[in-house]
Amino acid sequence: MSSQIVASLVLLCYFSHTQISASAPSILADHHEDEDSTIKTMHQFSGYPSSEPNHDSLSSLTLDTQSLQNQIDELATFSDSPPPSVTRVLYTDKDVAARRYIKNLMGLAGLSVREDTIGNIFGRWDGYEPELAAVGTGSHIDAIPYSGKYDGVVGVLGAIEAINVLKKAGFKPKRSLEVIMFTSEEPTRFGISCLGSRLIAGSDTLEKALKNTYDSQNVSFSDAAKSAGYVRDNDDLSGVLLKYGTYSGFVELHIEQGPILEAEGIPIGIVTAIAAPASIKVDFEGEGGHAGAALMPNRNDAGLAAAELALALERHVLESGSIDTVGTVGILDLHPRAVNSIPSKAHVEIDTRDINETRRNIVVEKIHQSAVEIAKKRKVRLSGFEIVNQDPPALADKKVIEAMEASSRELNLDYKLMVSRAYHDSLFMARVSPMGMIFIPCYKGYSHKPEEYAAPKDLANGVKVLALTLAKLSVS
Ligand code: GLV
Ligand code: MN
Ligand code: MN
Repeated sequence: MSSQIVASLVLLCYFSHTQISASAPSILADHHEDEDSTIKTMHQFSGYPSSEPNHDSLSSLTLDTQSLQNQIDELATFSDSPPPSVTRVLYTDKDVAARRYIKNLMGLAGLSVREDTIGNIFGRWDGYEPELAAVGTGSHIDAIPYSGKYDGVVGVLGAIEAINVLKKAGFKPKRSLEVIMFTSEEPTRFGISCLGSRLIAGSDTLEKALKNTYDSQNVSFSDAAKSAGYVRDNDDLSGVLLKYGTYSGFVELHIEQGPILEAEGIPIGIVTAIAAPASIKVDFEGEGGHAGAALMPNRNDAGLAAAELALALERHVLESGSIDTVGTVGILDLHPRAVNSIPSKAHVEIDTRDINETRRNIVVEKIHQSAVEIAKKRKVRLSGFEIVNQDPPALADKKVIEAMEASSRELNLDYKLMVSRAYHDSLFMARVSPMGMIFIPCYKGYSHKPEEYAAPKDLANGVKVLALTLAKLSVS
């Protein structure tokens, strides 16, 4: 019997005998009850008979939920804010240390590790037909200020654990499997979200813009990248681009970041589409002056213009009439930031999204009109209005969805098809590969705050669905 056949049988056997940690007993129980049907479906997937595997040698294999949890906890210690919060910003010392941690884990999993010039990290497990397009999986490990330890991290550490699971099962991938840790999904430092995956998908405008991009401390993108060991002087960022066909499929595991799965008691979410995000930077400038001496009729207060714009944003979002339209002013900086000085400069950063791109674009247009009108009315200068990004939504691929659905069914896990309101690197990976996302429940839907939490049982379920989905895509 060929090694491929043995491998498929071993995998089949493994998934029908997987044990998970004591904190997640339900799958094990479900699994044994439905063993026969699972084996039958697995047989259909693998195309090989299920009668021969050596169950004894495989029954002791475990999905190591405890070690995954330990890794999540350990990674959370690479943080610039006190626990339970996590702050890990692009190219800082903590980010560099966390990257080292990930590369080490990839190495321990037997993956061959490479990095591109901006620090996207790839860990590859060669398939037995390595010339075929690989199957990708991954997410990010950067964390916005004072956030939690699961956002993105689950999709990187979980992907490495999924590889470990497949390896322990004796599975041999046909297409290579590649774990990707994307650089800076969060826009924290340079205002640009999904930096790594945007460049992978190819963006001339972004490549050019990065030559002239500075953080709030006036550190240039290239100096920051150099300090972390990336982007040398002669580096051409276009080398980050991956052409369509590099991956035959891409799957990202992520916490839901919303309350639906937990509220409905459903362990797995299968994403069908990712909502369309946009972000905008606005600057107002006025005369400033003394907070006591300058009388109200003589002022042109840049801070009040910003405040009025924030309220206008809320109005425009609500005017859409859809619960799916959202808008946030997450950054509002005033200059000179003294209690007894009228703000002479105000900087506003706006995030607005919708699952409907047209509706989202209407909000963006209205924000622009309001900024112009408010500046005129308040006699301040609209010194900047920059649409940083205005991305279309992305659809998940039918075949990848089917693989995730079949995997969930075979693991006896209930699932729900759903839209992702948050953006992810998958939004951009969809431009270079058929894409899909697996969601797991998180406590009260909390995310982007320290209370973010996903239960070990849910982590285990997500990793198992990911592992099985990767296995399916790798042989397809
Ligand atoms: C991702 O972090 C998002 O803001 O959706
Ligand atoms: Mn996030
Ligand atoms: Mn994320």
